[in-house]
Amino acid sequence: MIQESLISESAECDASDLELAAVSVAEVLSGAHTHAAVTCIRHSHDPPSGRQRPEGRRMSRSKGHFEEFKPHSKHKHLILDCYFSAWGHKLGLRTGAGSTILYVDACAGRGADELGNHGSPLIAARAAAIAQANVSKHRGTPFRIEVVAIEVDRAHHASLARLLEPFGDAVRALRGKLEEHIEQLERQYPNTPTLYLIDPFGLDPLQATLVRRALAGEKHEALLLFADQAALRHFGAIVAVETRAERRHRHAAHPLPLFPELQVDGLEALAETAQESREALENARISAIRILNAAFGDEAWLPQIEAIPQPARRAAFIRLYSEHLVQWGATHVLQIPIVDESGTRAYTLIHASKSAKAYRAMKEAVTHALNNSPLPEEVVECMKQMVRSNIEDVQDEILHRFASQTVRWAEDAGDRRRPCVRTFVLEETNAFPFEFEELKEQLRRFRMPGKPIIYKFPGERTDVDQD
Ligand SMILES: C[S@@+](CC[C@H](N)C(=O)[O-])C[C@H]1O[C@@H](n2cnc3c(N)ncnc32)[C@H](O)[C@@H]1O
Repeated sequence: MIQESLISESAECDASDLELAAVSVAEVLSGAHTHAAVTCIRHSHDPPSGRQRPEGRRMSRSKGHFEEFKPHSKHKHLILDCYFSAWGHKLGLRTGAGSTILYVDACAGRGADELGNHGSPLIAARAAAIAQANVSKHRGTPFRIEVVAIEVDRAHHASLARLLEPFGDAVRALRGKLEEHIEQLERQYPNTPTLYLIDPFGLDPLQATLVRRALAGEKHEALLLFADQAALRHFGAIVAVETRAERRHRHAAHPLPLFPELQVDGLEALAETAQESREALENARISAIRILNAAFGDEAWLPQIEAIPQPARRAAFIRLYSEHLVQWGATHVLQIPIVDESGTRAYTLIHASKSAKAYRAMKEAVTHALNNSPLPEEVVECMKQMVRSNIEDVQDEILHRFASQTVRWAEDAGDRRRPCVRTFVLEETNAFPFEFEELKEQLRRFRMPGKPIIYKFPGERTDVDQD
């Protein structure tokens, strides 16, 4: 199942903040700017109002990130915290569960920001320790959640290793890249349910060969940061035909006939800058092709994205990547757009799993983050709009599934295996828990008097009925 709501929402953003090719990309990809279903989204290359980025003084992304996590990173951490806890408990307590599960944080970072806010590996280590203790106590046998955090940067790894030390030998910080460690992990943890988090800056580490392996095991799942803005930027570099400097030079070298007397100063300097920009663009193009081919596993993505009108390309990238995750073994794919405090679409988290229960747990984690987010209210509302389902479609699915049945809204505590509407909605439709009130309102006419909430659904209408 690939959740459809985000896929159908499309046209909010265009090409690129790639400095080399920004203008030509905009030109090449230009087209009518259709209004998005979600109008609060800014383009990530627009500086937030009132805050101009000082020329030539760009802080490294990594340094800025770990000075203090931005509200949208903290929002992501709320999702991770809630999901890791649910994942450990659910896998540990399910019938037939083994004695060990594994969490791999493939781009782990420093462990915390400079203010001490926990990053993904610390959040995972803490959630793992709690779930491990609870599950062991409940089962009466030892249960272990191992955490492997991988980080390529030497300084980040040193900080990470120091912060993870108190968690003991179930939690390890490895230096390097996932591709250097994955074989060893596969050997060491055969048949072990594993959750991979791949949360890089940009798309480079998100390689198809690795993601395919991460999803290979029967109970494996992955939470991936898909940098859709980076994908658009790379695509822009690939299809760009002219840089801003080249255009300036072209205009200067061929003045408009209306002004034949116009003197162009510094034509040579313009030509030199144009040449440099051409070389830079060629390099960006080569690297963009390499990164996107590696992410998708082959070159077939390019004509598919090229065929899509510009305003729908971001959605097309996310849809195509989600379809690849299904080809690589996922049965459930949930797309989680993350918007930053200025209203800029930052990236899309994509959860690829092989179980309806995992899909449901991630929807609950996303709702938990939306309800407790440090982001401004309007940004939270915007993210809700982006993932919310079509309630009438959900109602139709419920009426079809439970035609002629009398069924409870919530689980029956006395018989948890008995079907109920709530579980069906979470596991088999696109709807999120934050939509429950609206859904219940929609279903009110089928409700029987009294408590708990029980519905009596009609039989399915046949074609004859409808006539
Ligand atoms: C966005 S940060 C990770 C943040 C972390 N997941 C968190 O939520 O706290 C990305 C980190 O991945 C590291 N990195 C980049 N490419 C990598 C690779 N191929 N393998 C491992 N780490 C990588 C960077 O050095 C950086 O520390």
